[in-house]
Amino acid sequence: MKSGLLEETAVNRGEDKMERFIIEGGTKLEGSLSVKGAKNSMLPIMAASVLNCGQEDIVLHNIPDILDMHVMMKILQSLGAKVNFKDNTLVINVKDVDSYSIADELMTEMRSSIFLMGPLLARLGKIRVTYPGGCSIGERPIDLHFKGLEAMGVKIREEKGHILASAPDLRGTEIHLDYPSVGATENLMMAAVLAKGKTVINNAAREPEIVDLQNFLNAMGAQVRGAGTETLRIMGVKELGKCKYRIIPDRIVAGTYLMAAAITGSRLSLKDIISSHLDAVVAKMREAGVLIEATEDSLEVINGELKAVETLRTLPYPSFPTDLQAPMMALLTLAKGTSIITESVFEARFKHAAELNRLNAKILVEGRNAVIEGVNKLKGADVEATDLRAGAALILAGLAAEGTTVITGIKYIDRGYEYIEKDLQKVGARITRI
Ligand code: UD1
Repeated sequence: MKSGLLEETAVNRGEDKMERFIIEGGTKLEGSLSVKGAKNSMLPIMAASVLNCGQEDIVLHNIPDILDMHVMMKILQSLGAKVNFKDNTLVINVKDVDSYSIADELMTEMRSSIFLMGPLLARLGKIRVTYPGGCSIGERPIDLHFKGLEAMGVKIREEKGHILASAPDLRGTEIHLDYPSVGATENLMMAAVLAKGKTVINNAAREPEIVDLQNFLNAMGAQVRGAGTETLRIMGVKELGKCKYRIIPDRIVAGTYLMAAAITGSRLSLKDIISSHLDAVVAKMREAGVLIEATEDSLEVINGELKAVETLRTLPYPSFPTDLQAPMMALLTLAKGTSIITESVFEARFKHAAELNRLNAKILVEGRNAVIEGVNKLKGADVEATDLRAGAALILAGLAAEGTTVITGIKYIDRGYEYIEKDLQKVGARITRI
């Protein structure tokens, strides 16, 4: 009942602080799940719709019904756009967008609000915003976004906690990112598509979501080349127009479900995915003893005996993604031996370790390293999700634990997973939202 879902999400799903997941652990999963569109593609692509210079609609398919989508929808509406969401399809019309200012409460609700900077500068030549919010997984500065934009002629100043930026004349240039930041690469791509002349972004992020954004921008008439490599070349065009576009499947949701199967010793297959996007994840899971069969658009976990991995280091794509570090940590709590995880992307992304320890895990965190000593079993307890992927890790641990696990803070989980409990119930998990 999709329309019902929409009302629930928009009004209260996950925003109710009392909501929690109750999991009765120890059940095996069985069957197959299909995976919806990627949150991290959808958010910049929704923002990029503002670049449409025509009168007609942008239509986006395979859009997940998640909280972050509803926040981005509210932001676009606050700028003057008409946005309609039904049956996982978004129709966006931006012909009346004329506001360059985003309300503080919307900006601080989600870090991805910063994605509006590039598109609004390209469309209206100015923007006024406060600093973005988001999951608390580290400091998350936006200096690389600023440096790149300034190189394109944007003047940025700060006034009473607000960022004021203006760019009467965006111009193409050559930019070298000090770090292949996903968000900075995307913001700069979006600013460059309507800039005068050619922009080259060196040391760009190579994530599949960057390729998705390139494909979307090109479907609108942009000239972007090189996504998926470390050099992007963007030739500015005069205007962009309507398009229909289908978002790629969410590789992080897919990875979470693979790990849910592995931690419960289950057999589960995933459909509608691009399995090559999970190469590093599948390789690490196989190293941890999980048997996985792959085709181009499906992955099946067969089972296997979990064993520790000597090293797991999160890095930008195509290496192991930081967004699956927490779920992978949950998996390794039940692996035989001692595993070491190094989190090299975000400096404070181990808050789930303490919560996993409440479930009888044995994890020691030292700076950017976590040492996980495998235990024979996890035991149900009351735990709290402190960010999106930490929440997913707790669900996984709860599914495998003996007894009942109660998870609070589930609004974080709703930010990135479309009714995760319904998917898991479909394949036999005993999880309920109360
Ligand atoms: C995106 C993803 C997020 C993922 C992350 C890394 C979206 C909506 N979110 O976040 O799920 O965990 O990529 O794969 O796509 N940095 C700076 N200065 C900047 C920008 C980033 O120092 O201007 C640092 C960050 O603090 C962090 C690292 O670079 O330590 C990676 O950040 P970045 O790639 O920008 O991640 P996000 O785009 O925020």
